Amino acid sequence: MWFWGGLLESLSKVVSKTSKLIGVDAIYDVVEHAKIRLPKVDFHQDRFIKLLDFPDASLDIVISVDTFECIINKESLVTEIHRVLKPNGKVIFAHWDWDTQVYNSIHKDIIREFVAKFSDWQQPWMDSSDGLMGRKLWGQFQGKGKFQGYMDSFSLLETEYKAGKYGYDRLHDLAGLVEKGEIDIKEYNSILHEMKSLNTSKQYFYSVTSFIYCGTKI
Ligand SMILES: C[S@@+](CC[C@H](N)C(=O)[O-])C[C@H]1O[C@@H](n2cnc3c(N)ncnc32)[C@H](O)[C@@H]1O
Repeated sequence: MWFWGGLLESLSKVVSKTSKLIGVDAIYDVVEHAKIRLPKVDFHQDRFIKLLDFPDASLDIVISVDTFECIINKESLVTEIHRVLKPNGKVIFAHWDWDTQVYNSIHKDIIREFVAKFSDWQQPWMDSSDGLMGRKLWGQFQGKGKFQGYMDSFSLLETEYKAGKYGYDRLHDLAGLVEKGEIDIKEYNSILHEMKSLNTSKQYFYSVTSFIYCGTKI
C-alpha cells in the first residue's frame, strides 16, 4: 500500500521531543499503515463529519495537505479548527490546484480535456472533490474572518516521465476514467505513447501548482 503522510514524517524528524504530533485521516488502512511507519505519532481515524475530537484551545498548529477537497462540510471544519486552536494558533493548508496541471503535448485539445477530466473527477476514496481547491483556500480561511494570513505557492516541475514521478502517476490514475468509459482508450494510449517519446527526446515537461494558506487565529 502507498504511504500518505510524507509531511508528517518530515515533521516527526525535526520537532522537539516535547512536541506532540497528531495525524488524522478518514481511511482505516491509511491510518494503520501510517501508525506502523510513524509509531511516535498519535493517529485518529476521523472523517470530519462531526466536531473535531479535541478540546477548545488545545492545539498550536493545524496543518493539512491535499485533503481539504475531500471534506463535505468545509465551513464547519474551518470553524472547528478555529475552536481547537490556542490563541494566535496557526493554520497551514496546502492544496494542489488540479486545473494548473501542464503536460507538454502536440495534442493540445486532448491534453486539455484530460487535465479537466482529472480535475473534475471524484475518485472512489473521496467524500467530495474540487479540482480548484488550491485557489479557494484564501476565501475559505481569510474570507470567513476567523484567520489573518497570506497565500504562498509551490510549483512542482518535472522533466522525467517514469513511474513514481508525479506527472506519470497522475496520467496513469486516469486509467480509472478509461475503465469507466469517460476517456477514449485510443486517445489515452496515444497520449501515453507521446509522453514516452517526449521523454526519450528530452522534451517531456510536467508541472502542477500547490497553493498554500498560512494564517493565524484571530
Ligand atoms: C491526497 S491524500 C493526502 C494525504 C496526506 N495529507 C499527504 O499529503 O500525504 C488525501 C487523504 O485524504 C483522506 N480523506 C479523504 N476524505 C477524508 C475526510 N472526509 N476526512 C479526513 N480525511 C479524508 C484520504 O484517506 C487520503 O489519505
